[in-house]
Order: sequence, then structure tokens, then C-alpha cells
Amino acid sequence: NYIGIDLGTSSVKLVLMDTAGHIIANVSKSYPIDYPKAGWSEQNPYDWYDACMEGMKELLDGQDESTVSGISFGGQMHGLVILDKNDEVIRPAILWNDGRTTKQCEYLNEVIGRDKLSEYTANIAFAGFTAPKILWVKENEPDNFAKIDKIMLPKDYIAYRLTGVHCTDVSDASGMLLFDVKNRRWSRQMLDICGVTEAQMPRIFESSECVGTVKKDIADELGIGSEVIVAAGAGDNAAAAVGTGTVGDGHCNVSLGTSGTIFISSKEFGVDSNNALHSFAHADGKYHLMGCILSAASANGWWMDKILGTNDYAGEQSQITDDDLGNNNVYFLPYLMGERSPHNDEFARGTFTGMTMDTERKDMTQAVLEGVAFAIRDCFEVAKSLGIRVESTRMCGGGAKSELWCKIMANVLGIPVELLESEEGPAMGAAMLAMVAAGEYNCVEDASNALVKVRKTIRPDEKIIERYEDKYNKFRCIYPAMKNVFR
Ligand code: XUL
Repeated sequence: NYIGIDLGTSSVKLVLMDTAGHIIANVSKSYPIDYPKAGWSEQNPYDWYDACMEGMKELLDGQDESTVSGISFGGQMHGLVILDKNDEVIRPAILWNDGRTTKQCEYLNEVIGRDKLSEYTANIAFAGFTAPKILWVKENEPDNFAKIDKIMLPKDYIAYRLTGVHCTDVSDASGMLLFDVKNRRWSRQMLDICGVTEAQMPRIFESSECVGTVKKDIADELGIGSEVIVAAGAGDNAAAAVGTGTVGDGHCNVSLGTSGTIFISSKEFGVDSNNALHSFAHADGKYHLMGCILSAASANGWWMDKILGTNDYAGEQSQITDDDLGNNNVYFLPYLMGERSPHNDEFARGTFTGMTMDTERKDMTQAVLEGVAFAIRDCFEVAKSLGIRVESTRMCGGGAKSELWCKIMANVLGIPVELLESEEGPAMGAAMLAMVAAGEYNCVEDASNALVKVRKTIRPDEKIIERYEDKYNKFRCIYPAMKNVFR
């Protein structure tokens, strides 16, 4: 059996999976997130490690621990984790949705230049990427910068604690803006620009490669054998792609988690000339393009938990009928943490507009779900403008538990949405990567195609598509009109 660990932003989700793809057990453990200033977000890597260890113990409780053969990860991407020479965490990790690096991104995009960045890494600078955060620490916390012995990404910290190997994988490394995505190696130019050396960087592995085995003391603590292998794993979106069968060429997955992403797998390396979609290495040995919106299920969580004060998501959504779809006059911009794709604007903010005296609570709820779907459509349009044809999509993440939201997505994108037997995309993908590393499957594509099962297909309805076309065109006018209000 194999353990897949999805180190997310709100919690870590763990699955124990057998080689036939059955989920034997799953566990989730949450940890806090700090917002020390508006637009900043940080977490404590020690919290991640404790949650992973507790999670694994709980996962294995009542199981035969000796059947565990491998462990791997999907991890929240881009977060900067820095360790000193004693392997102590120097400062809290700066996360993927942290917007503090405006100045550093301006320097990278304007002074170094977008063309150069794209030549070195296949991408431009976005506030959440790792390289601008390194520059931020260098400029604002020089003492911390001087102490840096090792740089790594969130899931790599867990791999390091488990194995002692300072490693990362190609998909997650892609999001650092320090990685030459096309050639799958560190970019010397980018390391120089950020003032770091290759010795401080993790060793690069393909996602399904074995990086080492679990250290004896940790294996003893977990009750597993010390020959249990650890595979490098992947950024959570690439892991989710593996866990949803989004491998090979031209397949699509939409993830509605804390972030929202649209992920399109590709056999060939390609760059988005609009600089809106990320061009990253995939966990299947190939490449992908991805658009990332910073608030997705989290925008709905904010609306339900914080504003309406309810946890009855299904109850609130049950009042929204098919006739309501495409007939809502309320619009919502989901930019509660600024926005990445396609606007690249950390000052963007959330907005409701279009309310009238007869607007009800359910219209606002619907607007939130639709606003997220429209923001994903913005990224989808960029992909279409590159000539990419997507026939259907899969969905995963907490938001995919809502059939209403999946139906809205199918009609806003105008393509069928395939729902899977499990929404645990990244954790399942992680377990599959460990299986490939252990030789259970020949390659990631084989494992993914063999183990992912479609439960149901939601087909869009021509009439609803038409209504949403009009709504989407109106939605698109709101951000440009509001942009200066947010600054
Ligand atoms: C992707 C991104 C997010 C995080 C969320 O570029 O920033 O999807 O990986 O965990």
C-alpha cells in the first residue's frame, strides 16, 4: 500500500491506497494560516510536519503498517521555506497567495525584463512565485537571508524531514522562477539574479523518482519498515492532474480548492505569449499550461463561514435551480487575495455588483460560485487564444463536491465536466507517484489511466450556455472598470 500526502493550504489530506486504486483510509488535519498584513500569508513548516506525522499515525491506525511500501506528496506550490545550517526553519514560510512582492516583481519583470525571464524560465514573475520572495527576504530581512543554508518548497520540507535528502521535483521547481522548465534544470541566470547558489537549492528529481527511504527513527515512530521509499512527488496541481487522469496530451483538470486552477497537459513544451498561463513541467515527464486564480473554494468559504455564518453549504445551494443558472443579475469578483491569472494584480479585490431591492441571499451565493467559474473561464479563454482545443474537463478539490458548482462550470466553460469517484486528486496522484517509483507501474501515465475512474459526466445545456455567454461578457467588463479603485 502507498501513502499519498496532499500538503494543502488549509489542511493536509492523506490517503492510504492499494495498487488497484482503492482508498483504504483517509485523514485530514488542519493547521493555521497567518495573514500578518493585508495580502500577506504565512505558515509554520513545523505545523505541517506535525500534522503530517499525526496524520500518518491516524491513517495507519488499525492497519497493518508493514504493508506500506512507499510515500509521496502533492504540495501547495511556490511557498518559500528556508533553513539555516542547523536545519532550523529561519522564518515562517511565505505562501503561494502572498502578495508582498510587488516591488520585486516589478524589478524582475521591468528591469530584468519579461523576455529574459521567459527565456530563462518559460515564465514571468508573479507575486506568489518563489524567486521574488527570495529577493524580498534579501532586501527586507538581510540577517535572515545571510543565514540561508537550504531553500525548498513546502512538500520538500516534509520529504527532507522524512529522508534527510534535500530534494524537489520538476513540477514544483517550475513554480520557483529559478528553473529552466524546458530543460528541466536550475537556471544559472536566475540563481545569480536572486543571489543564491546551486548548493543552497534542492536536488531535482522527476516526480515519480525515488529520493530515498524513510529514516530509521521516523520509520520506528510510524511503525513502518525503514525500507519504505519516498518519491519526490509534485506540486499539488500536477499531483491532482495525475490523480484525475490529466496526463498525456490535451487533457484538462479544474481544481477548486483554496486556489482555483485550470491545468492542461501537453506532450510538447510551450509558452503562453500572453504571460497569463504558467508553463511548467508535468509530473508525467512532459509539460503543462496552467492558469491559477487565488481564491476559489476559499471565496465560497469566506462567503459562507465568515459572512453568512453558516456551514450548511448544501442547504444554501439547494435553493438555486437550473432556471436560475445564467439568470442572475448579481456579479462577484473573487479577488479576495488579489489575482494571479490572468490579471497578475495583487491589488485586485473582491466585489459584488448588480444588486437590486429584490436580491436575495441565494442570488449572492450563486454570484460567488459563478464569479469563480467566470474567473476560471478567463484563463480558459487564454488557452483557447493559443489554439488549444479542450473537449472536456475533470474536476477535483473541495468545490468539486458541489454538483451545482460543477454544473455551473460545465455551462460557463461550455464543455462536459467529468466527476470522478474521488475528489482527492492531489493525494491520490501522490500515492500513484510513489507506486511508479516502487515499480508497480511502468510510468505515471499508465498508473493514472489505470486507476482513475469517472463516476458521472455533467453535460452543458445549450440554453444555459447561451445565457452564461452574455453574463460572462458582462463579468469581463467589471475588473477593468474597478482596477483603479483597488489601488
Ligand atoms: C498554483 C498555485 C496554487 C497552489 C495551491 O500556481 O499557486 O494552486 O499550489 O496549493
